[in-house]
Amino acid sequence: MERIHQLSKTYKNHMKDQIKKLEATARMLEPSAETRNRLAEKVLSYGDNFLNDLPSKKAYASPKQNISSSPFSEGPADMDKLLDFLKSNVDANALNPASGGHLGYIPGGGLYPSALGDYLAAITNRYAGVFFSSPGAVHIENRCIRWLCDLIGYGPKAGGNLTSGGSLANLIGLVNARDDSGISSKDFEKAVIYTTRQVHHCVIKAINFAGLADAQIRVIKMDARFRMIPHALQKQLIEDRELGLKPLVIFASAGTTDVGAVDPLHEVGTIAQDQNIWLHVDAAYGGAFLLTEHGQQKMNGIHHADSVTIDPHKGFFLPYGSGALLVKDVSKLHNSQHMTANYMQDTLAADEEYSPADLSPELSKHFRGLRMWLPLQLFGIAPFRAALDEKLLLTRYFYQEIQKIDGIEVGPEPELSVMFFRYVPASGDANTFNRKLLDAIHEDGRIFLSSTNIDDIYYIRLAVLNFRTHLQTIDDTIALLKKKIAAL
Ligand SMILES: Cc1ncc(COP(=O)(O)O)c(C=O)c1O
Repeated sequence: MERIHQLSKTYKNHMKDQIKKLEATARMLEPSAETRNRLAEKVLSYGDNFLNDLPSKKAYASPKQNISSSPFSEGPADMDKLLDFLKSNVDANALNPASGGHLGYIPGGGLYPSALGDYLAAITNRYAGVFFSSPGAVHIENRCIRWLCDLIGYGPKAGGNLTSGGSLANLIGLVNARDDSGISSKDFEKAVIYTTRQVHHCVIKAINFAGLADAQIRVIKMDARFRMIPHALQKQLIEDRELGLKPLVIFASAGTTDVGAVDPLHEVGTIAQDQNIWLHVDAAYGGAFLLTEHGQQKMNGIHHADSVTIDPHKGFFLPYGSGALLVKDVSKLHNSQHMTANYMQDTLAADEEYSPADLSPELSKHFRGLRMWLPLQLFGIAPFRAALDEKLLLTRYFYQEIQKIDGIEVGPEPELSVMFFRYVPASGDANTFNRKLLDAIHEDGRIFLSSTNIDDIYYIRLAVLNFRTHLQTIDDTIALLKKKIAAL
């Protein structure tokens, strides 16, 4: 008996020794205040230098592709070396979305207070998916959502979810339309989705993700400004009903990525209501312009939509990773996404506000609201509105000025802040010329433009949405284009 007791005591001591040994190494995960300060100083100084040097940095640097970061090892690495790696392989490589010279695709943002918000969100690591766990974090997220709903003109029944971006917001919107339609999965072949050729390709991906790959997709005709023709939509809907098909959703756009077109939302919304079909508006790019009078006019009728996508990481200048899905009647989104489990039963005790986890596929989630709430509170709304009005005017200014160059052909007058153009040389193939022109712009690197293909014609696109793009950037772009056209 004594021996067994002795053995058990030895085993217990051995176990404690083991635990203490592990603890000593595990505690490296919690740096001391002194180490924290040292690391934070280095990171802050890296960030400050990045921002201070930004005006002299290129928007596009020739890409370095053979990147090889050291494999992870059992021991620690040196912060200075890690930051050096970031500097040369990440932050001075290819596209620089932080630059005001980024005028391609749809530029993103990167507001400084959002970085501070992300820092706080990561340090405090509030469980932002569930009201029970963090009523404050959920409230902040819902405050952001309410503000977006007000911009659309939605009433008190509206709500939504802050997603990682527009692709996810469009997917959740589509799934909500599917679930609300009452069309059973065995009838998905008969379901019909209405959109135009301008719809963002993430919607086609969403259709597959939503299990609707066998549904019919009706590509509705557009007018000369790439906007859905309401009459064509109505005619198609009526024909489809006569064929016994089941109209499921209209996917309209408020600012297409390609050319910035805004579908006639009032007319399309009225048809959707008459035909009792879900209308989703992808305003991922255009939605932020609702802060401006011009945007309100262009997107008149957006409140008819059953759901809307807006990307704060586009027109509200947040860093990437911020989209939003807004639903006119949030209880429909709740019906589509809510689920419970026995290990979640405690959370049912607090339901004063909707929990993000009940309105999206995500459960544990980044406290995204903080990176949006902080800059909106700190700066107020006025600078956002001014920046958006400025971007609209800068695009119009470019549109007028570029036409002063002989040989330049432009697309339609920009509805928002995206437009396209090309140079038509006196002789030779225009597509080849414009490809070379864009290569020359990229080689210079101060400005980044992207391209598109419309009816087999190669065009250069300009998208003004970075908050650091101002008049000087646009003047520099025009001067650069003139110089490169002359050189070619
Ligand atoms: C109109 C539109 N919809 C959807 C998306 C996809 O959004 P995200 O890249 O945030 O997933 C974009 C992206 O540019 C867009 O412009």
